[in-house]
Amino acid sequence: MKLKFNNGKFKILLFGDIHENEDYKTSPNFKDMRKLMNAALDEYNPDLCVLLGDNCNTDLYKKDPEEFRKMVIAVCEPIINRNIPYALILGNHEHDLGHEDEIVEIYSKMHGCISRNDAPEITGNANWKEFIYSSDGETPKFCLWFIDSNNVCCDRKLSHYDYVHHDQIRWFERESEKNKELNGGEPMPSFVFQHTPVPEEYKLLRKARLWEIPWSAKGYGVHSKNRYMLKKGATGYLGEGPCSPDVNSGQFASWKKVGGVLGAFFGHDHLNDMSGFVDGIFLAQHKTAGFRAYTDGCRSCVRLVTLDENDLSTFTQELRHFKEFGLKCECLGPVFRTLTDRQSINLHILGYSALAVGGVAAAGIAVKKLIDKIGG
Ligand SMILES: [Fe+2]
Ligand SMILES: [Fe+2]
Repeated sequence: MKLKFNNGKFKILLFGDIHENEDYKTSPNFKDMRKLMNAALDEYNPDLCVLLGDNCNTDLYKKDPEEFRKMVIAVCEPIINRNIPYALILGNHEHDLGHEDEIVEIYSKMHGCISRNDAPEITGNANWKEFIYSSDGETPKFCLWFIDSNNVCCDRKLSHYDYVHHDQIRWFERESEKNKELNGGEPMPSFVFQHTPVPEEYKLLRKARLWEIPWSAKGYGVHSKNRYMLKKGATGYLGEGPCSPDVNSGQFASWKKVGGVLGAFFGHDHLNDMSGFVDGIFLAQHKTAGFRAYTDGCRSCVRLVTLDENDLSTFTQELRHFKEFGLKCECLGPVFRTLTDRQSINLHILGYSALAVGGVAAAGIAVKKLIDKIGG
């Protein structure tokens, strides 16, 4: 399937960690995820959708591969029905069962799905690249890299999560050289989509000061001794320390060396939707677009990224949350429906505490009045 600019624009709609489950046919969580997907597709009418991994629970594959295939189709149905191309990338949970090749095979046969494995000789089961062609369909103008960030690390003493391996980085560099030839000797502008974030996401953060601790997030892995806040310039919500690998295999350094990478988009951390620039490369985290994975309340979201064919040195992007589409959540209880992030949780705790203190004080005054009356 050839992707090309449409009247000079190309819009990519991103969905993080949906984690759909086998009870999807009757689940209100599935219905709420569908509402968000439908609203976003109606609003943005994208040229491509990317599901950033941990898309569907693979336990169902173990029980019945055909039922698993039906569940993946059900998740993508709003996209399929609109004839929009889409990519499903692999998250650590797609790797859990060891049937990655079969899962990629299922994906690649779905109507409109562009997922595949271009490089079976390297680590991972779904590494591929896709060009966006000029509006006339003649010239490759922009490259989309879909990278398999693998599962957990084989040596847990080194890192819990696996990293993008050196052979994958070398493949990216070889293919980038080919892209350069197609682009008049200049690095072709590109985006990277992968599940697990690069360790450089921590460069969007700074250590929290003592008084900021209630609003801060605990780091992960080698960063777990510290609590973090977003640095000035980074936007969005930091709900947890980015769960990147503790081993830095040099992937980000390779992007800088090769050039052309404008931004990278990650899933995996279900609470985070922050983004910002590190050394000129935009790093964006996607919290879950569903209602299955752990979250801070009703704040599932999507991100739209728009390219302009006439200026590929930059792009625009926006984040939109479930409630901002005017949607009503059915699957969460009355309290969780109102919460959106740590700040709103803290404000709720503060509000309930103030109510409780006020209630105790009022009761105390009433009791004192009663004692005075009896005594008088
Ligand atoms: Fe996940
Ligand atoms: Fe994950």
